[in-house]
Amino acid sequence: MIVYRPMTINDYEAAYDLWIVCGNGLNNKDDSREGIEKYLKRNPNMSYVAVLDGEIVGVILCGHDGRRGIIQHACVSPGYRRMGIGKKLVDIALEALKKEGINKVLLVAFKKNEGGNEFWESQGFTLREDLNYRNKALAEMIRIDPEYLKQ
Ligand SMILES: CC(C)(COP(=O)(O)OP(=O)(O)OC[C@H]1O[C@@H](n2cnc3c(N)ncnc32)[C@H](O)[C@@H]1OP(=O)(O)O)[C@@H](O)C(=O)NCCC(=O)NCCS
Repeated sequence: MIVYRPMTINDYEAAYDLWIVCGNGLNNKDDSREGIEKYLKRNPNMSYVAVLDGEIVGVILCGHDGRRGIIQHACVSPGYRRMGIGKKLVDIALEALKKEGINKVLLVAFKKNEGGNEFWESQGFTLREDLNYRNKALAEMIRIDPEYLKQ
């Protein structure tokens, strides 16, 4: 049976390995152990893991800024996809946001990630065509891009 429970920093190594396998975009600062520990402390009980026989087969990071929720690094181990684990992780994260009084949630997905985008569409995350996503780095970071971006 798959158990869904809040992610703790002790799950970091297994979660990181899964993010690499799943092709989530990472960087050396935010996704370091310290970076994830800081994130989990700031957003307690909002990020979840799916565990099967002691193995982490799914992860979702979730947090909010007091106004808008954000979902990051959702992933399910390749051998366990299309079993509803991703949906369950999203549902749990959305419930956690609602409990905090958060009314909307955003996420970013690489355009090339067709499967990921279809998943989000199926979960009711609509594409905002009226916005430009803008970003400014405040520190130097090394990006660890998924393989599909390198092609
Ligand atoms: C995206 C991801 C988390 C989905 O996890 P999952 O456990 O396989 O998803 P679910 O089984 O809950 O799927 C729910 C529904 O989403 C849709 N869906 C999921 N994966 C899909 C895919 N690759 N292509 C098209 N639709 C998909 C389907 O409608 C599915 O329902 P169905 O299986 O009854 O048809 C998983 O494929 C993954 O880890 N991908 C790599 C990492 C990634 O892209 N993460 C998102 C980054 S923004």
